[in-house]
This record gives sequence, structure tokens and C-alpha cells, in this order.
Amino acid sequence: MAIRKVVKEGDELLRKKSKPVKTFDRELWNLLDDMWDTMYANDGMGLAAVQVGILRRAIVIDVNGLKAELINPEIYYEEGEDIDEEGCLSVVGFNGNVKRPYKIKVRAFDRYGFPFALEGEKYLARCVCHECDHLEGILYIDKCDNRNEYFKRRRK
Ligand code: NI
Repeated sequence: MAIRKVVKEGDELLRKKSKPVKTFDRELWNLLDDMWDTMYANDGMGLAAVQVGILRRAIVIDVNGLKAELINPEIYYEEGEDIDEEGCLSVVGFNGNVKRPYKIKVRAFDRYGFPFALEGEKYLARCVCHECDHLEGILYIDKCDNRNEYFKRRRK
């Protein structure tokens, strides 16, 4: 297990779409183990594989003690609305409010390739949505209320 370097906003890799995981092998497990280490080393609540430079559809989350690895996640149900502050380990020194569904249900596979479903509200829903966005090359700074401020600052 090792702490990997977190890819930062401005790197085009974060804008690419991640590819589905096809083999649930040792390479994937090493990646997931390193993602946990990297996330905790940076005090994060969630991390997508692309953030350590791997364009695969894998995320880890730890929200209020609920830890999960979601491979090829697919949000299949959304309900309600919730606006709250987000940050991202790939976006240093910035936070912004983002509108997300209040409740979500997500289907995914675990590290051995077994399917499961998870439902979450509030922060858990927010975290899953944020990480799933990463797999599409979307960052929360595209959606937050103060995004103009971010992109203005970035152009300087
Ligand atoms: Ni993020």
C-alpha cells in the first residue's frame, strides 16, 4: 500500500472519461488500497481513481463512518435537493456550494466483482455524486455557485 500523488485541477486527465473496470484482479486491489491510503493521507471523504492518475471507474468513500469501494458505479435513483459546501482533493484552496439530490441509490460492484446496491442521503449522497462526476470528467467547480470566482482566479 502506498500514498499516490493526487492529480490537480488544470491537468487534462481530470477532464477525461474513465473506462469501466473489466478485471477484478490484484492490480485493481492494489489501486483501491492505495486510494484509501491517499484519501486518508489528505483528509478526504472520497476519491476517484482518476485522481491518482488511473482512468478507471472506481471510487472509494468514507462518509460518517460508512466506508465503501464502488466499482463501475451507476446512480439509478435520485430524489429531492440539497445545497451544501463541497471541496475536492484535486482543487486546492477552494470550496463552493453545489446542488445535489438529497437521496440517491447507486449500483456498483465490489473489489471481487460482486454486485451490490447502496442508498444514501445528504452527505453520503453528495459524496457519491461528486465522485461519480469525476468518472465523467466533471468537477464540482463546474457546478458550484461561486464557479465564476474560481475560473477568474485561475486565469490570473
Ligand atoms: Ni473530488
